[in-house]
Amino acid sequence: METGQHIPDEAAPQDNASVTDVSVEVATVDAMLEKICRKYNRRRRRVKKLKKKLKLWKLRHLVIISAVMVFLVIILMWSLLWVFTFRRESNTGVYFAGMFRVANVEFIPAYRHADSSEFVSMANQIQQVVSRVYRSSAVSKLYKHTVISDLSNDDKGGVLVHFWMIFVVPSLKTPAVCEECVSAILKDSVLTSLKNRSSVGFLLDLPVDIDSILINVALRSDYTSTAAGSECVDNLYASLPDAKVPLNVFSSWGGLVCHVKLTSTTGSIVRLTVNSLDIEPSDCVQDALTVYGALLPMRTKALHRLCEAVRVPFSLVSTSNIMLLSFRLSQGNKSFRGFFQAISEQECVSVIDMPADPTVAGELRSPFYPSLLPPICSCTWKFKTHSGALGVALKFQKYILSLKDVTPCEHGWWKVNEVIYCGSYVSHTTVFRVPEQNVELVFFCSSRNAEQPFAATYSTFNISQPCVDGQFLCSTGLCVAKERRCDGLDDCQDESDEVFCSKPIKNCGSSSPLHPLYVCNGENDCPGGRDETNCSLETSCSEIRYPCHSGSCILKRNAKCDGVPDCLDRSDERDCACGQPTPLKRVIDSIRPQDRVVGGVNAVEGEWPWQVSLHFAGHLYCGASVISSEWLVSAAHCFSRERLSDPRQWLAYLGMLTQGSAKHVAEIRRIVVHEYYNARTFDYDVALLQLRKAWPSALSAYVQPVCLPAPSQTLPDSHRCWVTGWGYRSEQDKVLPTVLQKAEVSVLSQSACKSAYGPVSPRMLCAGVPSGEQDACRGDSGGPLSCRVSEGGRWFLMGIVSWGSGCGRPNLPGVYTRVVKFIYWINSYIHD
Ligand code: ARG
Repeated sequence: METGQHIPDEAAPQDNASVTDVSVEVATVDAMLEKICRKYNRRRRRVKKLKKKLKLWKLRHLVIISAVMVFLVIILMWSLLWVFTFRRESNTGVYFAGMFRVANVEFIPAYRHADSSEFVSMANQIQQVVSRVYRSSAVSKLYKHTVISDLSNDDKGGVLVHFWMIFVVPSLKTPAVCEECVSAILKDSVLTSLKNRSSVGFLLDLPVDIDSILINVALRSDYTSTAAGSECVDNLYASLPDAKVPLNVFSSWGGLVCHVKLTSTTGSIVRLTVNSLDIEPSDCVQDALTVYGALLPMRTKALHRLCEAVRVPFSLVSTSNIMLLSFRLSQGNKSFRGFFQAISEQECVSVIDMPADPTVAGELRSPFYPSLLPPICSCTWKFKTHSGALGVALKFQKYILSLKDVTPCEHGWWKVNEVIYCGSYVSHTTVFRVPEQNVELVFFCSSRNAEQPFAATYSTFNISQPCVDGQFLCSTGLCVAKERRCDGLDDCQDESDEVFCSKPIKNCGSSSPLHPLYVCNGENDCPGGRDETNCSLETSCSEIRYPCHSGSCILKRNAKCDGVPDCLDRSDERDCACGQPTPLKRVIDSIRPQDRVVGGVNAVEGEWPWQVSLHFAGHLYCGASVISSEWLVSAAHCFSRERLSDPRQWLAYLGMLTQGSAKHVAEIRRIVVHEYYNARTFDYDVALLQLRKAWPSALSAYVQPVCLPAPSQTLPDSHRCWVTGWGYRSEQDKVLPTVLQKAEVSVLSQSACKSAYGPVSPRMLCAGVPSGEQDACRGDSGGPLSCRVSEGGRWFLMGIVSWGSGCGRPNLPGVYTRVVKFIYWINSYIHD
């Protein structure tokens, strides 16, 4: 503001007045000159003033003009941004696939062809009705259109309508067109017209069965690939019962996503047989075949998903006479070979009179055996034995029934004389006995997808003595010879013959053979170590002998990578670049008592080079161990929920001591969860992760595989091992440690483990300390329990952090997956 007072324009009039006064009085040449000069000066000043004014005017306008220009540019940019970004983003198409039954209408074969005039007129009529319903609903502004894609019929009568529905929704309003909301509009509209107890009401003037209405959110890509005009849709029809209709699909066949719609005659169901599928295993990210029990890719109707190559043929059935195969095949030589059939629905009720002969009487099989189990089914078997002293025994191959608890049954449920059991898959044989003369068994499918079929042989058994004299009754229901109890071998397949055994006597000097547990177990049990001699002689195989590559076995149980070639083919010393860390600081330096965390201390750089931190969607979720250049092993429960099974959401941090300082970050290509993993019991809690790329070998000082033990590998009782991870330091802890923690724990005998927890499977191993002070905790799951069989030897992965009751509680040890039980399973993937 101050500068305004010195504006030259305002000072000028005063000067002018004084000069004019003088000029009137003096009229000489000088005065003339002076006059001219003054005049000139005055003019100059005026010009100057004018110029100044002009300059100022220009400046002001320049400011105004540029402000306007900037304003215009901003407006222009904003509009462009809105047109090209926001508008496009905020208006998204939301796609739904749906179906309902139009009742009281006769189905005619012409409806099967979308180009027939009959189809077109029927479709138009339905489409108009649906559109009218939605146009007068709360979401009318968002509704775009409905496309009727197929009309089919089944034994329930009428016409089944399959349709797509498209909404265009500003992103903020997407909740308004949720799956439930959209189907509620249709259902409500029918509901108001329902009369009596009938499920058929009216959608305007269209008779619709309210129970048949099903609407699912779908993918735009599925819509574009199945909608009319797409080159990659095929419709096939099986009209003759059981006749095989061949199905061959190749990747050169069409686009990325292709659909094959299968229909069979009314009253039949579709059975698909997959002879082979050649695809890249990629966790369904690139290649996949999804089978639906519908004609459109409806999420809730998905029957089965194949994401790995199929070499052994298998079949699966639909829940009705329609099925959809949805192929996603990337470039390359991908192919599918198989066929489909119309098969008749089965009445699954049998009444079985058990013969007096106690030997095997027959076999019961899951519905549609050997096809996979459909998601909906039920079967009843009614048994009657000949005497009240005889019950019914069922021997299952790889399936077990256990009493239902609060958790729902995931793999079928059974009603056995009114008592409910859950079925689950296991890797061994089990016997289920019902000690009653009349037994009614009802089986209900209860999985969302198609599952493995099962079969069981049935026979009678003596209720008062299930196993014959001289036999021992295992918890699996099997009967084994009494001599087999406590012989060091798991004859019962659940170790029930090997727990609570008193330590076998060491009959070192006697003529009878030494108990196998003492022979070549790496410890000198007899004077002079006589039990540890001749351990490299090749003999026959059993689970307590070391399997050489040649196929024969040696007695030395811990022959693997111990520095001595024991097998004739030296295979026990092959692949031993593992389990030998080179800590970059002296390990002793790291022990600072104040760091104790569930009994742990900070690890040092390079001490556990196989330790991996697994992050899901950016957060630490589990641990894992490096077992080869491209495979990690972890716990199945880290990946069991649907969201968690997507490999793209995971990152593996390798060669890391402090969170955030990984030497290598790896993406995951594929997650293989053990097929028998049981989320109720945590049995088979193991998973393999394949990396997208092998980790760089130059990092070997920081990243190194842990050795996988041999299936025969043993640890002496109370052997000390280390558990490592970035999990919580106590049960109540809220913050995760940043530095890798390690805690020393002792391996417990299986009997001690069972005393603490009750039922513990042979695939589990307990480790801890009686006080509970040292333990794993939440966040450590999937991480290693590393053990050295001998002082200074290599580190073996003996356990995978799995579960526990709380963390660090006294007499409640940590439970680990027993890795020796999974060596063949692991090798089948990593040496594929
Ligand atoms: N399930 C836990 C996890 O997800 C691991 C629990 C281990 N608990 C124990 N007390 N050892 O991280």
